[in-house]
Amino acid sequence: MIVESSERTLVRFRDVSKVYTGGSKRAPRVVNAVDTVTLDITKGEIFAVIGYSGAGKSTLVRLINGLEPISSGSLEVAGSRVDGKSETQLAPIRRKIGMIFQQFNLFNSRTVAGNIEYPLKRAGWKPEERNQRVTELLAFVGLTDRAKNYPEQLSGGQKQRVGIARALASNPELLLADESTSALDPETTQEVLGLLRRVNRELGITIVLITHEMDVVRSIADRVAVMDSGRVVEVGTTSDVFAYPQAETTRKFVSSVMRTVPREDEIAKVRQEHPGRLILVDVTDQNRIGSVLSECARDGVTFEIAFGGISMLQSRSFGTLTLSLNGPDTAVENTIVRLREITKVEEVAR
Ligand SMILES: Nc1ncnc2c1ncn2[C@@H]1O[C@H](COP(=O)(O)OP(=O)(O)OP(=O)(O)O)[C@@H](O)[C@H]1O
Ligand SMILES: [Mg+2]
Repeated sequence: MIVESSERTLVRFRDVSKVYTGGSKRAPRVVNAVDTVTLDITKGEIFAVIGYSGAGKSTLVRLINGLEPISSGSLEVAGSRVDGKSETQLAPIRRKIGMIFQQFNLFNSRTVAGNIEYPLKRAGWKPEERNQRVTELLAFVGLTDRAKNYPEQLSGGQKQRVGIARALASNPELLLADESTSALDPETTQEVLGLLRRVNRELGITIVLITHEMDVVRSIADRVAVMDSGRVVEVGTTSDVFAYPQAETTRKFVSSVMRTVPREDEIAKVRQEHPGRLILVDVTDQNRIGSVLSECARDGVTFEIAFGGISMLQSRSFGTLTLSLNGPDTAVENTIVRLREITKVEEVAR
């Protein structure tokens, strides 16, 4: 795969692999946790990485801040090579990167303010500057009144907001979020995603977000990479990946959030209720499909929506509709031909 980098590239993976070796001498175990990944993450975007457990998502992200060294390939962050660097050489790169975690990873013995202040102390900020920055950050994440609380006095969503404030403390360019909402209920998840959106839009921080929930991708990501067995099997804008999933893994993820294609048992039921010719129509441009159907109505073709639905994603509609067409045979046939000119149409076998 050839990927052209531009000045807008913040993270540049080229044929990056990460191999873990373990087990015993007799039964050695080799895991290709990340397998020849070539990928560009662009400045200013929210980039999601999705995949099943063990797909290599966390490993991929841990490579970015050098928490794990890569085994082969090359990796650049903000114009600096990450591979082959010592811990000391990595320090300035790491300062450009904040990270948040599923389990928040807060210090229970420190207050909210103390947690947020911690990285600034380590980076050698003066006390007054630290205080001022902590005050700003508390206001940004909406926890001003919680400054003196301890983590155990907070809800999950509030803890994650502290985690975000701490990650933002030293003005990173990039925020890595590993399953940052997986421990939260749906409502709190939306609240944290809303905050991450503000981090991106208002502060201009690029976000790489790992999740196994397609809903999270849909509500926040500009682009998404799908991982399977260490490989990136698909990457594209969120709306494209939802509308035209290519890889099998992606199809499974997409259908897990929006099942608009009927299963076999459902088709049998649909058949009973709708005697017309059944077709599955991919909805990518609702207006054009609508106008074909209304033109065909003049030839006596009527339709019913027998199954399915359409979702809106970043102001584009997509999904699959199961239509039952009724009318004179040739006119129905003509309708199908005309729909095929503008979208994918599958006929459900009789
Ligand atoms: N430190 C390690 N040593 C050996 N193997 C590892 C190590 N870390 C990860 N692996 C293996 O690498 C593969 C990818 O793991 P990784 O944690 O990146 O997956 P993941 O997609 O983040 O999964 P999850 O959704 O469960 O968090 C797995 O097979 C895992 O067992
Ligand atoms: Mg993981």
